[in-house]
Amino acid sequence: MPKPVTLDDTHRLNVPDRPIIPFIEGDGIGQDIWPAAKMVFDAAVQAAFGSKKKVEWLEVAAGEKGFAKTGKYLSDEALNILMTHRVAIKGPLATPVGKGMRSLNVKIRQQLDLYACIRPIRYYPPVSSPVCHPQRVDMVVFRENTEDLYAGIEWDSGSREATKLLKLLKSELNCDLPASSSIGIKPMSPEKTKRLVIRAFEYAFKNNRKSVTLMHKGNIMKFTEGGFRKWGYEAAFETFGDRVITEETLFEVYEGIVPDGRVVIKDRIADMVFAEVLLRPENFDIIACPNLNGDYISDALAAQVGGLGMAPGANIGDDCAVFEATHGTAPDIAGKDMANPCSLILSGAMMFDHMGWQKAGDLIREGVTKALASGRVTSDLASQITGGEEVTCSRFSRIIVENILF
Ligand code: NAI
Repeated sequence: MPKPVTLDDTHRLNVPDRPIIPFIEGDGIGQDIWPAAKMVFDAAVQAAFGSKKKVEWLEVAAGEKGFAKTGKYLSDEALNILMTHRVAIKGPLATPVGKGMRSLNVKIRQQLDLYACIRPIRYYPPVSSPVCHPQRVDMVVFRENTEDLYAGIEWDSGSREATKLLKLLKSELNCDLPASSSIGIKPMSPEKTKRLVIRAFEYAFKNNRKSVTLMHKGNIMKFTEGGFRKWGYEAAFETFGDRVITEETLFEVYEGIVPDGRVVIKDRIADMVFAEVLLRPENFDIIACPNLNGDYISDALAAQVGGLGMAPGANIGDDCAVFEATHGTAPDIAGKDMANPCSLILSGAMMFDHMGWQKAGDLIREGVTKALASGRVTSDLASQITGGEEVTCSRFSRIIVENILF
């Protein structure tokens, strides 16, 4: 009988053989990429486990579909289903720019306290890339998801709140800013930084990764971004002791070769990271960073290996996890069966890894790799691949399924 995934007292997942997994189809190209991805997920589970395991998909109405059904883009009931089922997957949800409602994606992350946004970035040949050696990119970005300038604490120019705060800043703290300023607050705390960095190190140890780089702008923002750097080092050594080594130790004691079972901690200024990932990407393995830096670097890295259509993502907290396509709703191609479904499909592979169904995750990654290598790909990729043949989103997914099953 289908059952929800549950958590035990130590926050470990119990995954039944017939788990009920909620999904949000998403706006725009969600209607194209969700059915395509679901076909791949079901085929991978069947190929990996035969009739022993099967996912029972549970649709959660959110975004435009949610509004049509309940009058709300994201109802409390929808959030509650995501939370109580512990593992879920979603397509993109639309957000208007500069006005109206706040991002539904940000709301999901904040309400469910999904504090770690995890984005693995690697190259899938023969996808076209703007750099000469995209295969050197194999990184995982751990972006803090709940604090920083994205906490949503901001007031418009001329608003009552901004005016009040500006007066307080002037009278109490001697900060004389233009009276017309908009104001945004950048909160960053030791506890929220530490849980993110600990999760990045746990991932590094589990997946045999060699280093975690703290990416920050602490040279300028000393107490927020500088705090991130300081608390990151503290968390690593407090939690993992001598299993973590500094860069100095790496070169002074180990001649630059990371010993088995150890992970190197290092830190870099954010602007330098953007240059270094282009020039020497092999120097980076896991990057842990505050919210805004993480938003920028994960999209830049995705572009470096061929674009957002390829990059998967996960938002994970202590109580539940939501896996998601990292691109937006692509309204220009929505409903045309043209979209590239790889981001959502590879997010599903991450979801199966998280559930302990690694075999299904591996089959999906292999299926995608072989489908791309065949050169029969969606239009965003076909025009960039020599000899590439354009196929629809649904056809491309069937090619992945054929590669998984046969
Ligand atoms: P977008 O990612 O939707 O589109 C940017 C460009 O990339 C467009 O030309 C689009 O056609 C193309 N593109 C995106 N995904 C593609 C795919 N899978 N296959 C082929 N081409 C693809 O970004 P945009 O236009 O800035 O945002 C549109 C809407 O999506 C906005 O409402 C935004 O708030 C929302 N959005 C939602 C996200 C999420 O749900 N996680 C993330 C980013 C944006």
